[in-house]
Amino acid sequence: MLHFELLATDPHSHARRARLTLNHGVVETPIFMPVGTYGTVKGVMPRSLAEMGAQIILGNTFHLWMRPGLDVVKGFGGLHAFEQWHKPILTDSGGFQVWSLGAMRKITEEGVHFASPVNGDKLFLSPEVSMQIQTALNSDIVMQLDECTPYETAGVPTSEDEARKSMQMSLRWARRSQEEFARLANPNALFGIVQGGMYEHLREESLGALAAMDFPGYAIGGVSVGEPKEEMLRIMAHTPHRLPAHKPRYLMGVGTPEDLVQGVASGVDMFDCVMPTRNARNGTLFTRYGDLKIRNARHREDHQPLDPSCTCHTCAGSAGVSWNDGGRGGFSRAYLHHLDRCGEMLGPMLASIHNLHYYLNLMQEVRDALQAGSFAALRAQFQADRARGV
Ligand code: GUN
Ligand code: ZN
Repeated sequence: MLHFELLATDPHSHARRARLTLNHGVVETPIFMPVGTYGTVKGVMPRSLAEMGAQIILGNTFHLWMRPGLDVVKGFGGLHAFEQWHKPILTDSGGFQVWSLGAMRKITEEGVHFASPVNGDKLFLSPEVSMQIQTALNSDIVMQLDECTPYETAGVPTSEDEARKSMQMSLRWARRSQEEFARLANPNALFGIVQGGMYEHLREESLGALAAMDFPGYAIGGVSVGEPKEEMLRIMAHTPHRLPAHKPRYLMGVGTPEDLVQGVASGVDMFDCVMPTRNARNGTLFTRYGDLKIRNARHREDHQPLDPSCTCHTCAGSAGVSWNDGGRGGFSRAYLHHLDRCGEMLGPMLASIHNLHYYLNLMQEVRDALQAGSFAALRAQFQADRARGV
């Protein structure tokens, strides 16, 4: 089940404001989706995610298949009850993760043979197996199995011929995914994934063929795979607005706050990225006025919160009133610096809450601006603020 309703479009860009209805709830777009690979958004409780306005989170077919295994999740009737997140979930198909195994795997037309990184068992992932696993997980959005075309292999960029062959296999896997998804009578929604490497005409061939298969939604894969930033921006400007206008568009694995705002302008509705949570664990915090490294000694005695305009639990405490608006409930930079120096668990937890809140709130501001017809002004203000520096 998937229903997609366009609510507003920006006359100056490809940006849209829409509402996506899934089996476990409604998602207002454009949206950022926190990554919960192993059935947990690292270090963040589901209630905190809900409190900061997360509407949909990711899970991963490959990881959850390895651990805890399908028998365990099936016993709970799916991933929602197992991980205690009752709003929508999107699961990636495992294609990208198996691809990341490098030398440990062999990709054939039939599927991917690989050794389990957990216990060395010989395993096989095909479009059919991926659909069977995602059906057991009962994720609201299921991704087709695809081959993520690398940007380069051992320093040599993927040739046009290789990118075409890879993209065409992903199209055949799209068809097989669709057939198995239907055979399983999966009640959720299956997305096709556009590939084609850094070649625009291959991207057009891919999206044309996928559009003809009439998926309820489309993703753009094979970006953020080691290519230079300009290449990523070139594909991001090219592909999204060419996808069917009345279907959701998801840009996989992207990106920085700047990438998200640019992606929205290019017509993307959905994003996911490990950046807010991973960077939080490394002590890099996103703020309205640029990025902040909490490890830096200059924060040692700083009583300010990370971002005085932020209403997250870390910056504003449970009152949720930002420092700028007179609230004083939050944790200081000095305290977060201290937690980091001592390697305390609370450090990455509070940092993850702040970074996710920053991303989710940025998307809320984008949605509000699209609704109000002021997206261009928001973009200009966003860029000026971010460039100012903390
Ligand atoms: N995550 C980031 N990029 C990709 C991709 O190309 N395919 C899949 N399945 N997942 C991804
Ligand atoms: Zn905050």
